[in-house]
Order: sequence, then structure tokens, then C-alpha cells
Amino acid sequence: MKAVILAAGLGTRLHPVTLTMPKSLVPVANQSLIVYAIEMLKGAGLTEIGIVVHSMRSPICKRLGDGQEFGVNVQYIVQAQQSGLAHATLLCEDFVGDDSFTVFLGDNIFQDDMHGLLTGFKDSDISAAIALSKVPDPERFGIAEVRDGQVIRVEEKPSQSKSNLAICGVYLFRPSIFEAIRTIKPSWRNELEITDAIQALIENGEQVNSYVIDGWWIDAGKPDAIIQANQLVLGDLDYTPAPVDHEAICGDSEVGPRVHLGTGTKVEHSVIRGPVIIGDRVTIRDSYIGPYTSVGDDVIIEGSEIEASIVMRDCQLRNVPGRLDSSLLADFSRVTAARDSVPAVRRFILAENSYIQL
Ligand code: DAU
Repeated sequence: MKAVILAAGLGTRLHPVTLTMPKSLVPVANQSLIVYAIEMLKGAGLTEIGIVVHSMRSPICKRLGDGQEFGVNVQYIVQAQQSGLAHATLLCEDFVGDDSFTVFLGDNIFQDDMHGLLTGFKDSDISAAIALSKVPDPERFGIAEVRDGQVIRVEEKPSQSKSNLAICGVYLFRPSIFEAIRTIKPSWRNELEITDAIQALIENGEQVNSYVIDGWWIDAGKPDAIIQANQLVLGDLDYTPAPVDHEAICGDSEVGPRVHLGTGTKVEHSVIRGPVIIGDRVTIRDSYIGPYTSVGDDVIIEGSEIEASIVMRDCQLRNVPGRLDSSLLADFSRVTAARDSVPAVRRFILAENSYIQL
């Protein structure tokens, strides 16, 4: 069975982070979102993976290459216009051939590995299966009505929903879905919706099964959701004792359990309280790193405090007053304050949709 990851979206709700980086490459606990998807698929034995990108120049192609680094074979399928999930799926018809396949949304992350769902479908006689999760705000999602485990109706972002079961980004199909996609029309948001294609299967009398996932699921489309995903993944980290590397940790530093320090990283006169993950070649001096923080490679944090945040690679934080909390800093961001500078000014160079809370 093959797998398809849809990652051609423009990630506009995540600007400015996604001005230079596709949403699926945004790191959660220092690993790109899409790598979690690849690991989950690989764990279920699905190693032939098609990734839908908006162009072969997408940084996703550069980052994942042919997939060898991750133990899978990756092929890319280009969707130049983001005309909807069903459109993206239809473009995978040649890649998929006559096989059953799974479609995975590249910006979703799950606690459940869905092993049974992903491995059991191929030899079953059902036409499709979808993963579902209970949500408090059904109008934001595709929604499924289920009876005895079978999906009897689906609707994309209904204004009034009869169900609180959201379709959560993992679908299992057979080639019959391609015929269904050919019958549907663009929705109000001018996209070919995969939800409408599933409804067409149901109306055609085909059996669509449901699987209600265990644990948390995040559709990481917005900054708050990415920060929340980071907290959930770090919260699931196994217990590791406090590191005792006298070369890496010096001065009167206090580094607690569940703190992962990368190679070449130095901690001086600082406090780090896990769960925290810190990349390679990072310098932390006279600082506090609080729980649920991820710090990428080659970052410098000096005279600053930060908690429950994501700091991507090559960032610098120097003498930041107060404590940064629930923040998202993209690659090469800098937040600095000159100590005792006169006049005491604030200076910003901000990209479109930047957000600052003082
Ligand atoms: O997150 C779950 C929801 O995902 C489902 O409940 C909805 O039924 C489903 O339609 C989808 O809704 P979204 O509005 O959140 O989808 P979004 O536009 O964010 O796209 C999801 C992923 O698919 C994202 O990684 C980008 C990729 N994509 C999206 C479009 C529209 C493509 O590859 N091509 C596309 O044309």
C-alpha cells in the first residue's frame, strides 16, 4: 500500500513563519511536522510515499530528498494551484496505480500511531476509512456522522453540525475515490473538497468506516496550535535523568531531568527546567529556559528568560527584559536589548503578519 502526504498549502495562517518555510517544515520539538507523518507511515510499513508540493523548488524537496535519510522512498507530485485536497489527491492517481492508499495531511500531528487502521485496510473489503476525533468547534473542520462505526454522512465545515466528530487528516482509499473526485464540483471556497468526494462514495452505496483516534491531535495551521503541539510532544518525552556533563554545563547552572542537550551545546550560569529540547552548538548563558521549550541548532540565548516556546535555528536572544512565553521565533530571528541604553527605545523590523505583545 502506498501513502500520500499533502503539503502543497501556502500556510498563510502561519505568516510570517511560513513566508520562507512551508508549514510542514515548521519544527515541533526540533523535528519538522512532516517527519512525524513519515515516521508514523514507516511504522505501519508504508515506505512508498508520494508528497504533494506546490513546486519542485519547495524547501520540502531539499529537506527530505529521496527519503533515504528517513528509511522511505519519496516521490514528489507537483500541485501548482492549491485547488483543494481532492484535486491534490487526484494528481496522485498515476503514483498510486491500482493499489489502496492512505492520504495524510502534512500539517497534522497525532499522539495515536493508528497502526491498526493503516495496516488493516489493505486486506479489508471496505471502500474507504477516515480517522475522526471529537472536537468542541465542529464548524472549523470536516465533520462525520457515524452509525455503528460506519460513516453515513460527511460535510466540510458545516455552520450547524449534527456531530462533533472531526475528520482529522488521515484517510484510507482505493482507486474508486478518483472516480468520486471526478464527479464533484468546487466548494464555496473554490476548492475540490475531499470531504465532498467521500460523500459521493457514500451516496454511491460504498462502505466508509470510521476510526476514532486515541489521545491528542493538532491541526498545526496557526502559531498557537504549533506551540501547543510542541508542548504536547515535549510532554510525551520519556523520563531522562538530569544531564551531568561538566564540559557542557558549567558555572552554577541547574539543568533538570527531561532536558535533551545537543552536541557542542554549552550552558553557563543558567537554569533549564524540562521538558526541554535543545539543539546542537547552542549557547545558553545567564538565562532561564522553562518547561515546554524547544531550541534549534546554533542559537544564542544570553541574559534572557523563555518558557513554553519554539526558537528555531540560528536565532539570538540577548538581554531580553521580562520572560518570553508561548512565543514562536523563526530561523535567524533576533531579539536583543542593549543594557542601560539611552534613549530606552524599542526597535522592530517586522514581516507581514508579525505579532508582538509588549
Ligand atoms: O485538519 C483537518 C481538516 O483538514 C479536515 O477536518 C477538513 O475536512 C479538511 O478539508 C482539511 O481542512 P483545512 O481547511 O484545515 O485544510 P488546509 O487547507 O489547511 O490543508 C490541509 C493540508 O493539505 C495542508 O498541509 C496543505 C495541504 N493542501 C491543501 C490544499 C487546499 C494541499 O496539499 N493542496 C491543496 O490544494
